[in-house]
Amino acid sequence: MLNEKQKLMQIINLGLEVAQVKDIDLLLERILTEARRFVNADAGSIYIKENDKLMFSYTQNETLRQKLPAGRKLIYSTFSIPINDKSIAGYVALTGKTLNIENVYKLTEGVSYSFDKHYDEVSKYCTQSMLTLPLKTHRGDVIGVLQLINAQDKNRNIAPFAKEDEPLIMHFANNAAMAVERALMTRAIILRMIKMAELRDPKETGAHVNRVASYSVEIYEAWALKKGVSQKEIDKNKDILRMAAMLHDVGKVAISDVILKKPAKLDMDEFEIMKQHTYLGARLFSDKYSEFDDAASQVALQHHERWDGNGYPGHIDPMTAQPVSNCRTEKGAACGKKGEEIPPFGRVVAIADVYDALCSRRAYKEPWDESMVLENMREDAGKHFDPDMIEAFFSSLDVIRNIAERYPDK
Ligand code: C2E
Ligand code: SIN
Ligand code: SIN
Ligand code: SIN
Ligand code: FE
Ligand code: FE
Repeated sequence: MLNEKQKLMQIINLGLEVAQVKDIDLLLERILTEARRFVNADAGSIYIKENDKLMFSYTQNETLRQKLPAGRKLIYSTFSIPINDKSIAGYVALTGKTLNIENVYKLTEGVSYSFDKHYDEVSKYCTQSMLTLPLKTHRGDVIGVLQLINAQDKNRNIAPFAKEDEPLIMHFANNAAMAVERALMTRAIILRMIKMAELRDPKETGAHVNRVASYSVEIYEAWALKKGVSQKEIDKNKDILRMAAMLHDVGKVAISDVILKKPAKLDMDEFEIMKQHTYLGARLFSDKYSEFDDAASQVALQHHERWDGNGYPGHIDPMTAQPVSNCRTEKGAACGKKGEEIPPFGRVVAIADVYDALCSRRAYKEPWDESMVLENMREDAGKHFDPDMIEAFFSSLDVIRNIAERYPDK
């Protein structure tokens, strides 16, 4: 067992570590893992406040995890609970107080809250001791709740949470709250960037952006499962890819209206300018603070590369737009990236983007029949597109059609 000073040092280090994680889902995972380790808790959950409710946002459960076949993940559904004094998490969110409960099935008489046995019944788990803390920002606003379940003693028997651990874990919860608040703000800013790009190019509506993002995620998952990528890695990447794919054309905000909104075919000079939207978009994410920035810059830069090497902008430095290799095309442009030189997210968004462009009406073209679109996609495997990813595309076609129905053009 750690002494007080060691515990304090550990908490300070945790605070520093958590402050460096930028993506919200990775952040919740790290917070819960470290908080559970610190008090030896078998399970735990994080709730994040959204509007006037608490969203059940992330959970871990060591006992249930061990019962799963190797590599399978704990399936849990997100649900919301009202912020009032009827539930344990609701009470903590409402009052900002910590609740340290020895046994949730034997609550003190007269308390307003009760334990919801539903979760235990569904999962066949037995919740007993529970430490529930508010996630409070430095302004004192509660932005969520951290719930730790079933503390274990040295012999792995369930025990109450130690009273003397409360202040330290509270300090940790405060640090975590600030990191969560920052990550939520980053996500909100990204969503505003997407809105702004839509306002600039009203023909390509939110529907196009949502379809390309959802198609990309489906194709990626089918492809990655076949490649043997772990479900955990896939789930992490899906979220990042969805946002990055939504921003694939964000560089178009820097293209002049005359070209962007031209209701006819672009001439060669105009198309050369249009091609700049790739590296102009990538520049917005050049300070690579997080995995998300990395993914977004890759997608913006590389969604018009082709598997056969005939795409654009090729081997350039996005900041200077200058070629970074000696290889040039006849016109003096940088050579296109080829095959696996193009990262997976670039290859997958290329498929989703072209598929959606062919199915849709544009200022310069009518929508194509589905049979023609599919023929074109098949035909271009190994030319425009990664052939393995085209397989994944065709294997996901039912879901892809369903997504198209969910996000129709107005
Ligand atoms: P977008 O409209 O989202 O199209 C994405 C990609 O789908 C295109 O990339 C191209 O690979 C494919 N695509 C779209 N329409 C057709 C088509 O009718 N036939 C074939 N075979 N492929 C098609 P690309 O060509 O690099 O164009 C990038 C972006 O430049 C387009 O995005 C669009 O915003 C703009 N653009 C391209 N050509 C024209 C044009 O003639 N007029 C106007 N106003 N914009 C154009
Ligand atoms: C931040 O949360 O400090 C921004 C970093 C990012 O782009 O995710
Ligand atoms: C962020 O960097 O916080 C937003 C990206 C994400 O969480 O998917
Ligand atoms: C567009 O589709 O051209 C604007 C929205 C975006 O993809 O950033
Ligand atoms: Fe594009
Ligand atoms: Fe597009």
